[in-house]
Amino acid sequence: MIRVYERKLITELYARHRPAYSAQLIKSIMGFCNRNNPQIGKQHDLLLDVACGSGQATRQFAPYFKRLLGVDVSSNQIRLAKHHNTHDNIFYEEGCAESLPEQDNSVDLVVSATACHRFQLDVFFSEVLRVLKLRGCLALFAYQPPSLNPICVSNHSVRESLAKESSDLFYEFCQVKTDAVTNHHIDSKYADIVEMLPFKVKVHITENLNHTLEWKLDDVIGYYKSLAAYHESMRLKSAKENDFAETLRTTLKKSWGVMNKADKDVSVIVDFPIFLVMGSGKKSQ
Ligand SMILES: C[S@@+](CC[C@H](N)C(=O)[O-])C[C@H]1O[C@@H](n2cnc3c(N)ncnc32)[C@H](O)[C@@H]1O
Repeated sequence: MIRVYERKLITELYARHRPAYSAQLIKSIMGFCNRNNPQIGKQHDLLLDVACGSGQATRQFAPYFKRLLGVDVSSNQIRLAKHHNTHDNIFYEEGCAESLPEQDNSVDLVVSATACHRFQLDVFFSEVLRVLKLRGCLALFAYQPPSLNPICVSNHSVRESLAKESSDLFYEFCQVKTDAVTNHHIDSKYADIVEMLPFKVKVHITENLNHTLEWKLDDVIGYYKSLAAYHESMRLKSAKENDFAETLRTTLKKSWGVMNKADKDVSVIVDFPIFLVMGSGKKSQ
């Protein structure tokens, strides 16, 4: 189990810089959940968000459930999730994907955002089957490294070609320090995880769920610094090596011709390609 998200520094960067998810994603998941278990004019009972971080996804489901529980193995993630919580129906507690803290047949929807590629999946799936109600659903989603479109570059055609170059560079930076198993799950957009789902009905959506945001360069570097891979590589790096985030910052600014601008004045469109896997109709264990 990865423990890098235990550290205070990374969890604070995480809470500040990790994005929420697109409205279209939440709509797709709730559409699936409602088709399986119609609740006309009523909220569902219970959502369980596994590996909830500081609540990036949990809070987006608040209108649809009477009670929501976010669990994460990291005490610091849970501390920040509680600190930022403004919803009466959301609760957070420490817990792990391989031993879910809910009763048998009690949960309407289990979600896990940008995390299940780190779980011991066979154990997690048997726990999901245990806690889900008969008509309950599972939704697993994540995103590939975002593409960057530097709108700080005023010349349109120059910007177009820099967008491709910057996105490729950012992708390489995000991928190079990440372990092979995680890269495989993310590269395949969870196609391999669909195969493993213990459900009669399986859905895999890889288009039209993107989350597009206008960020400053500061936010892009902050996002990069919130990656587990960045912290692992910083821990392992020798004193002679540069800080990868600072190298990235300088490379992007040079390429965009904005070395003289403050990072907070450098605007970028950041597009997160989100993918989603859902299952319903429990197969017997
Ligand atoms: C990339 S973060 C995702 C956080 C949040 N769901 C989001 O969408 O941004 C991955 C999270 O998974 C948690 N985690 C990793 N393995 C876990 C496990 N086996 N059980 C519970 N949490 C786990 C980490 O502590 C971390 O907070």
